Amino acid sequence: MCGIVGCILNKEVAPTIIDSIKKLEYRGYDSVGIATVTDKINVKKGSGKIKEVDDEIHLEDIDGKIGIAHVRWATHGNPTKENAHPHCSCDNKISVVHNGIIENYKELRLELQQEGHTFKSETDTEIIPHLIEKYMNEGNDLLKSTQLTINRLIGSYALAVICTEEPDKIIGARKESPLIVGVSDHGNFLASDVPAILNETRNVIYLEDNEIIQLEKDNVIIMDKDLNPIEKEIVEIDWDPEMAEKGGFDHFMLKEIYEEPQVIKDTLSESSKIKEIVSKFKNFNRICFVACGTSYHASLIGEYLIETQLHIPTEVILASEFEYFQNTLDDHTLVIFITQSGETADTINALKVAKQVSETLAIVNVVGSSVTREAHHVIYTRAGPEIGVAATKTYISQLICIYLLVAHLSENEELIERLYTIPELTEESIEREEDIKIIAKKYKTAKDFFYIGSGFNYPTALEGALKLKEITYIHAEGYPAGELKHGPLALIEDGIPVVGLLPPGPSYSKTFNNLQEIRARGAHMIILGSEEDTKIDDVHDKIVFNQIVDELIAPLIYIIDLQLLSYHISVEKDIDPDKPKNLAKSVTVV
Ligand code: M6R
Repeated sequence: MCGIVGCILNKEVAPTIIDSIKKLEYRGYDSVGIATVTDKINVKKGSGKIKEVDDEIHLEDIDGKIGIAHVRWATHGNPTKENAHPHCSCDNKISVVHNGIIENYKELRLELQQEGHTFKSETDTEIIPHLIEKYMNEGNDLLKSTQLTINRLIGSYALAVICTEEPDKIIGARKESPLIVGVSDHGNFLASDVPAILNETRNVIYLEDNEIIQLEKDNVIIMDKDLNPIEKEIVEIDWDPEMAEKGGFDHFMLKEIYEEPQVIKDTLSESSKIKEIVSKFKNFNRICFVACGTSYHASLIGEYLIETQLHIPTEVILASEFEYFQNTLDDHTLVIFITQSGETADTINALKVAKQVSETLAIVNVVGSSVTREAHHVIYTRAGPEIGVAATKTYISQLICIYLLVAHLSENEELIERLYTIPELTEESIEREEDIKIIAKKYKTAKDFFYIGSGFNYPTALEGALKLKEITYIHAEGYPAGELKHGPLALIEDGIPVVGLLPPGPSYSKTFNNLQEIRARGAHMIILGSEEDTKIDDVHDKIVFNQIVDELIAPLIYIIDLQLLSYHISVEKDIDPDKPKNLAKSVTVV
């Protein structure tokens, strides 16, 4: 996830601004840049970590008392120096840093190119300084030109702009991307997140969507989208630096769970790109997914979706077992690799083999990672960097990509429309955190857990169980509802917690009946189901959802409650959920 900083001081700004941008390193990034304004715009940028770029080009060696800086997490275009921010206008008088995704950048870029603007990068961001330049050339000042520019943008942004024509200010704006203001008597600051400014000030103003800001050395003016000034409260921050990095959350995992509604929105913005990729597929009559761990569970949901919606034979292969299945691949098989890191050794090895005979698609979170360089087609999940070892927001973004893929392959507009309702539904799951905490307290001493689901929700049972195992060290198993009586039922005894996934839909009766059998043997039932389902009124613990959350979309919502349940059991057991024992974020060995 990108991070931005803007800073106005009464002394040279570079040391402060670099110190500030370093505080955003935790967000994950692949390139860095700084711009200041004197009688001209001065820019230094490069690809790599701040220290590496600094060793090479001495970032601090730049004059100016007003500056902006950026750490970039690549989304549009590889992590190169050219794509690193800040980006400038043709006349080099305007410089911009941006966090977010501009969905209509291709149309705007074409329009600007037709008007004679030339571009130096592949980024969506670069259209912003060019648009501001266009409006300034029409006689508008910097503030008005920035307002006219953001009126043209579809997507999300937090941005900071400097300009040689008005060298005493920074203009900022936000929509669906975080931006805060720091105020002090020695200067004023803009940043993506609080840790960036804590060394300078603890007085913070949180900007809301569609607010615009003009930052001067002794003055901060916050305006609505029509440039009417508005009063904002200054909040005094009392977090310690470690807490600040986690946005005030106790752990990265919790922060990342809270980010899921936004991640879903960001990933949905890939819809038209996914449609374009789908139109390029050659003829295929079979689909194989290849993945590990949580990405394997996302693939299983893909299998259910494709088999039921598209009626195309589909199978899911664990990347570590791929060699036993590779011989049946052919040029009519589409092989889909799912990996958040893009660096999982088993997945890379399988991809290298598969691409020799079949068309390959990778669904990946990290731009420029090894898998993206091997596959024929790439779809990016827009989760931003995930720091907690347990996959949470990357899983939900993989699912959104898979649902979009299936919706476009089947030209199912209704499904696409339903996907746009998911962010709001997931907010409800997050609001339930306190209720889930109570359930977590109750079951923290359990030795075993079972997760039961059917159809699209069977993989959710597997993923719920995996989350519990990895961060609480409690033994957990996920089963399809109908499979219990073929063996595992023997393990059910008095008091054992069983999580039943019971959304409305065709698989309801089968799941309900099998859960009844478990209950009759003394299990403690934790049921996730519809708020209108009176048949679950008397279970031990209930987590209920809006009636419209049926079994087709339940995988996109129920999992958030299960992630929260695992997280709170982990915290109750005094385990650090961000760093479970024996596990690594990227598994780069076979
Ligand atoms: O980066 P990948 O998606 O390829 O990683 C695969 C697994 O190692 C990963 O999903 C792992 O299971 C999760 N960290 C579990 O939460």
